[in-house]
Amino acid sequence: MRYETLSLPPNLILSHQMNILVIGSGGREHALVWKLLQSRHRPQIFVAPGNAGTAEIATNIAVSVLDFEALKNIVLQKNISMLVVGPEDPLVAGIFDFFQKDEQLQHVQVVGPSAEAAKLEGSKAFAKVFMQENNIPTAEYQEFSVENLAEGIAYIATQTPPIVLKADGLAAGKGVLICENIAEAQAEFRAMIGGKFGEASQKVVIEQFLDGVEFSVFALTDGESYQILPPAKDYKRVGEGDTGLNTGGMGAVSPVPFADAAMMKKVEDRIVRPTIEGLQKRKMTYHGFVFFGLISVKGEPFVIEYNVRLGDPETEVVLPRLENDLLELFLSLRQGNLAAQDIKTDSQAAATVMLVAGSYPNEYEKGKIMTGWDTTTGSFLFHAGTKKENNGDIVTNGGRILAITSFGKNISNAVEICIQNAEKIKFEGKNYRKDIGKDV
Ligand code: AMP
Ligand code: GLY
Repeated sequence: MRYETLSLPPNLILSHQMNILVIGSGGREHALVWKLLQSRHRPQIFVAPGNAGTAEIATNIAVSVLDFEALKNIVLQKNISMLVVGPEDPLVAGIFDFFQKDEQLQHVQVVGPSAEAAKLEGSKAFAKVFMQENNIPTAEYQEFSVENLAEGIAYIATQTPPIVLKADGLAAGKGVLICENIAEAQAEFRAMIGGKFGEASQKVVIEQFLDGVEFSVFALTDGESYQILPPAKDYKRVGEGDTGLNTGGMGAVSPVPFADAAMMKKVEDRIVRPTIEGLQKRKMTYHGFVFFGLISVKGEPFVIEYNVRLGDPETEVVLPRLENDLLELFLSLRQGNLAAQDIKTDSQAAATVMLVAGSYPNEYEKGKIMTGWDTTTGSFLFHAGTKKENNGDIVTNGGRILAITSFGKNISNAVEICIQNAEKIKFEGKNYRKDIGKDV
């Protein structure tokens, strides 16, 4: 049995079918669809574009997350009343506003922030200004562009390495460089302003390096109230012992032992609440997830970055632990009763181990046949980069391929089950980290 089923008292089911469109194609979206399907409202779910995993449990439609007109057509044809946005690009590109402005779409609830609020992820410089405005702890910084390039070079010379350079805009997770000396930082800074990350690095944030341990906290907000979900930690480097290149995420665990009640109180008081109040001060519309990328420096939390969506692969450990009906939480964003919701978390630990292509995060081949599906036991298999061929074969279709999630009585037990199943799924070039959760 690969997916949990939920039997529901018939009297609790809405009289009309609710149709939902989830957009995105990764493990996060598979986990979102899986969780929404457990709702007592029994929604019908469409996914654009989805992957082989979402195709097993919902209806995939081959449309890009950035093709708003095509998404509109799906919404009208399929009588969709809720749009759940997985990745950041459509949010930064204004999908929330596109739906609000269109008379035919205004009735559709979009789970995600407005374009203005999505700048918290879409512009690192804006996020820094916002944090300063609201006294939210974060690294010291300055921002530079081609106009004050020489000042930037001089500023770097005054800094103590390592020096952190961040492209202002979205750069597919690659826009942050950590430089070990001043000369390297100055050369990289020139390259960034010169277009190393295209438009995204026309502006560059230079910031102080924070030495600590990272973790991720997610809040669901309607712009006024918020609810905090269980914290998670992801593993970004490709190699064991946190070595090698940065990736989208090689695994995750939840809970995070050092994110205990005392730490989470600091996070709420110093970071989450001031962020939501900051949205209100700027009158920013926000009906979705805020992802706080945090770092604990000697037990004090700082914000490394905001994202305006759920994290991947954190979602694959957070949603399985969330005991609430996710669709009801989403509905409460519109109904104005988010504050009255009581977040309930499974006390078991959850871990995700990500199977990736051999050469990921460098160039990789796709189309490798995946086998061993029927031999796994005791894990959820959330597809990330997979595709079902016409002949029924499931093949690799990305760098990050399969998120294997397990529960355990503790983190190492959960990871052990993931690894047993990671061994059983086979495809050419498979790679994964065996040390997820070892450091916490
Ligand atoms: P970001 O894209 O902002 O999440 O940055 C990518 C990664 O760079 C983070 O997950 C951190 O590991 C690292 N990083 C970013 N900013 C800092 C900082 N100020 N100090 C230390 N590490 C950082
Ligand atoms: N796991 C980090 C991210 O989703 O950006």
